[in-house]
Amino acid sequence: MANIFLKLALLVIIHFSVSTFPVKSTTILTDQLALLALKDNIIHNPGNVLTTNWSASFPVCNWFGVSCGSKHRRVTALNLSGLELEGTLPPHLGNLSFLSLLSLRDNRFHGKLPVQLSNLQRLEYMHFGNNSFSGEMQSWLGSLTELRRLFLYYNNFEGSIPTSLGYLPKLEELSLYENQLSGSIPSSVFNISSLQIIDLGGNMLTGSIPSVPLDLISLKFINFNVNNLSGHIPMDMFDRLPNLEELYLSVNMLSGRIPDSLFKCRKLQSLFLSLNQLEGNLPVEIGNLSMLQYFSIAQNHFQGEIPAQIANLTLLRELDCSHNNFTGTIPQQIGNLKNLEYLSLGVNNLVGPIPPAMFNISTLTVISLLLNQLSGSLPSNMGFWLPNLQALYLGTNQLVPFPAALGI
Ligand SMILES: *[C@@H]1O[C@H](CO)[C@@H](O)[C@H](O)[C@H]1NC(C)=O
Ligand SMILES: *[C@@H]1O[C@H](CO)[C@@H](O)[C@H](O)[C@H]1NC(C)=O
Ligand SMILES: *[C@@H]1O[C@H](CO)[C@@H](O)[C@H](O)[C@H]1NC(C)=O
Ligand SMILES: *[C@@H]1O[C@H](CO)[C@@H](O)[C@H](O)[C@H]1NC(C)=O
Ligand SMILES: *[C@@H]1O[C@H](CO)[C@@H](O)[C@H](O)[C@H]1NC(C)=O
Ligand SMILES: *[C@@H]1O[C@H](CO)[C@@H](O)[C@H](O)[C@H]1NC(C)=O
Ligand SMILES: *[C@@H]1O[C@H](CO)[C@@H](O)[C@H](O)[C@H]1NC(C)=O
Ligand SMILES: *[C@@H]1O[C@H](CO)[C@@H](O)[C@H](O)[C@H]1NC(C)=O
Ligand SMILES: *[C@@H]1O[C@H](CO)[C@@H](O)[C@H](O)[C@H]1NC(C)=O
Ligand SMILES: *[C@@H]1O[C@H](CO)[C@@H](O)[C@H](O)[C@H]1NC(C)=O
Repeated sequence: MANIFLKLALLVIIHFSVSTFPVKSTTILTDQLALLALKDNIIHNPGNVLTTNWSASFPVCNWFGVSCGSKHRRVTALNLSGLELEGTLPPHLGNLSFLSLLSLRDNRFHGKLPVQLSNLQRLEYMHFGNNSFSGEMQSWLGSLTELRRLFLYYNNFEGSIPTSLGYLPKLEELSLYENQLSGSIPSSVFNISSLQIIDLGGNMLTGSIPSVPLDLISLKFINFNVNNLSGHIPMDMFDRLPNLEELYLSVNMLSGRIPDSLFKCRKLQSLFLSLNQLEGNLPVEIGNLSMLQYFSIAQNHFQGEIPAQIANLTLLRELDCSHNNFTGTIPQQIGNLKNLEYLSLGVNNLVGPIPPAMFNISTLTVISLLLNQLSGSLPSNMGFWLPNLQALYLGTNQLVPFPAALGI
């Protein structure tokens, strides 16, 4: 017992000394050495931005891309974005112990991230997006407990996403898209109550979508597009995502039905589920998602009728139900969609006439109804009300021959 108290007391003292006083063994000279080590590792510096500017003859705090704290005059931010720099990161970067912002985005850095970066205990913002970094994403990332924004997109990272990322208690944005990440999505990523944006698109992730164990009231954006996710979308996934605005699950191997809980996401603006193996009806509750602007369920196995409630979604700009097995008629009320720009209901089994009001949606640029069993004729004055139309696909239906006097 006494032993435990002693350890606790020690921990408190250590913690106190670290957070209150600058660590005695490092100075601005340490920062300077770390930055000069980085400069040494840069093999290509097209604008020569650093060549003379990063010189020991001038104070570090005046160097290009470097910011220092106003009181302690130690390096707090390093921003070298978009300079076409090529090189690797030296372990010395881990000595910048006051750093809270590190952005090397839009350069050509390569190699692995040195484990010493795990010493950057004050780091809140790490942006390495759009470089050529490689290797596994290491579990030490999970020890950067002040991190709020982590951008590693557009690199060559491989291996699985470390579970430890779920231990970042303040993380707001996790952006890992366009890498070669494999394995499953760790369930811990939905265990971060501060999360706002999670973008894992364009990887090779497998397995099913993890469930959401707690209320994520900040989460607005989920992108898992273009992976190899399978299984059902968890039935209760959306029970705890009341503020979700954008959901991208296209180009995966998801099966089963759309979970009812999805229709609780009343703030949803973008919903992309295309190119999966989803089945069942499109529920009438789709009409509850009154903020929807972009909706695509193309290339799945949906069947039944397209519910009339779809016409309640008056903010819709894109509606794509193509390449499914929808039957019945096109809802009469579709003319209510006064903001629609892209409408595709092609490659289904729709019958009956095209509702005349569809040709009154002046915002439409693309209409595709091809490969259905639609019948009837087109209104002869159609072109007057579709001033923005760029493409009209009506092939392979049973429509009365195209009127000659259309003028479009
Ligand atoms: C280095 O660059 C910074 C930012 O552009 C500038 O303020 C500073 O004067 C430059 N220092 C030298 C010695 O050129
Ligand atoms: C980094 O610098 C670039 C170019 O000066 C700027 O556009 C960007 O906003 C800066 N990034 C951060 C996080 O301050
Ligand atoms: C900084 O980091 C490097 C490599 O991690 C190390 O060799 C060096 O001793 C460290 N300390 C100082 C004060 O530069
Ligand atoms: C990546 O960075 C380069 C400049 O280095 C820029 O031209 C390009 O647009 C960036 N790409 C992305 C996807 O951000
Ligand atoms: C989520 O966090 C709680 C509390 O920190 C922890 O007990 C639980 O194991 C975590 N779950 C996952 C899946 O990481
Ligand atoms: C996706 O996973 C399946 C097995 O579930 C596998 O057969 C297929 O090759 C994978 N595709 C890609 C592009 O990784
Ligand atoms: C959809 O809206 C109706 C009418 O407002 C409501 O009764 C129903 O519970 C809603 N459904 C869901 C899943 O939220
Ligand atoms: C459409 O339904 C028929 C009959 O149920 C089935 O044979 C066919 O594979 C389905 N097509 C698609 C694209 O799901
Ligand atoms: C939604 O659409 C249905 C069928 O078209 C209609 O009966 C209902 O009143 C609409 N609800 C709202 C809120 O507009
Ligand atoms: C299309 O709009 C015009 C002008 O607002 C109106 O006169 C006409 O009745 C409408 N036609 C249909 C089929 O809704």
